[in-house]
Amino acid sequence: MNTDKSISGLIKNYKYGYSLEQAFYKSQEIYDREIENIFLKNWILAGHTSQIPNPGDYFLFEFDKESIIITRTKKDEVKALINVCRHRGSHVCLNKEGNTTAFTCPYHAWSYDLEGTLIAARIMSNDFEKSENGLHQAHVELVGGQIYISLAEEPLSLKGMQEDLADVFDQYGFDHMKLVEQRTYPIEANWKLAVENYQECYHCAPSHLDYAKIHALALAPKKFQPMKDKFLKENTSNIRTKASPYYFDLAKEGDEGYQYDRNPLLKGIKSGSRDGKPVAPLLGKVNEYGNGASEFSVGPTTYYLIYDDHMVGFRFLPTSLNTCIADVFWFVRGDAIKGKDYDLEELLWLWHVTILDDEKIIIDNKKGVDSHFYAPGKLSEMEMMEQHFLNWYLKALS
Ligand code: FES
Ligand SMILES: [Fe+2]
Repeated sequence: MNTDKSISGLIKNYKYGYSLEQAFYKSQEIYDREIENIFLKNWILAGHTSQIPNPGDYFLFEFDKESIIITRTKKDEVKALINVCRHRGSHVCLNKEGNTTAFTCPYHAWSYDLEGTLIAARIMSNDFEKSENGLHQAHVELVGGQIYISLAEEPLSLKGMQEDLADVFDQYGFDHMKLVEQRTYPIEANWKLAVENYQECYHCAPSHLDYAKIHALALAPKKFQPMKDKFLKENTSNIRTKASPYYFDLAKEGDEGYQYDRNPLLKGIKSGSRDGKPVAPLLGKVNEYGNGASEFSVGPTTYYLIYDDHMVGFRFLPTSLNTCIADVFWFVRGDAIKGKDYDLEELLWLWHVTILDDEKIIIDNKKGVDSHFYAPGKLSEMEMMEQHFLNWYLKALS
């Protein structure tokens, strides 16, 4: 029995191969530490450049208590401006998205340009320096069109990921994709229950009847592993990378963690769709359906599933101790035309129904984890990725 209930005691007494103690899901102190040690340190997917094609375009990216304006400047650069007025702290931008030449604070009308520079401040003393009062900024890195931001003073390096996965980005044409839909699914549960759920496919067969008709990952390891070995051996177009197929707990000190893996789909399946048939034009340099899907992740909260003809991005963000959101992004080739090259409803179908399944099981999970009778349970070998996440998480927390 673990009697040391301090954060370090809980971390020290974590029993490898088991789920976490209840306190990790219920303690505000732990949640606050997670925001500081994880969300204010790691790179997070903020969105995609196709959301802000023109100078002056912007959208808000928000989680927990943070609000960040992602904007395209007149110089065609992407900036991440912290949405906290340098006067007395009001949110400056209240619209979720739009196009503007400047952001004017609704409180006392200080005004900032698209670069975050303070350009107007009414009735201030002569010694007030506008140049010292621009909006604070987050670091921005573009990977293809994916916009990542880091709120850390010294951001982790993304170089390893960009080098190791360059062939993957090239193969799937990351630079030429467009975002065709983003949906936000609010989930009444601690964010880790959502991430842990995403990490494992032990639940796929019982909980995702539609997904399990498409993805071999839902099969038990005894069936899955020989199928995967054969797939990797025979399908020579599969890209080999140096990236770990497991998890970002293996990243070098100072590097952002990332992961890449390729897995077979069930026999005859071409894409992640209602019936396994194609739903959009082939991506990038892919020239035929390879009966597989690639999985790739950056940092602890951003995951991608790449089919040969479209990509689905997933991002899990905390909104409070007991609530989080799952954002799902659907991407197709940049020149694909809606209604002609793809039917939007068909493109969205599989992951819309799958995330709704997930939302339900995560909330049911939360209800049980809240009980007086919850205790850490033994993980299955099909939860190895979740174990890697837990290893990484405990290290990040300490
Ligand atoms: S708080 Fe923004 S102008 Fe005063
Ligand atoms: Fe799931």
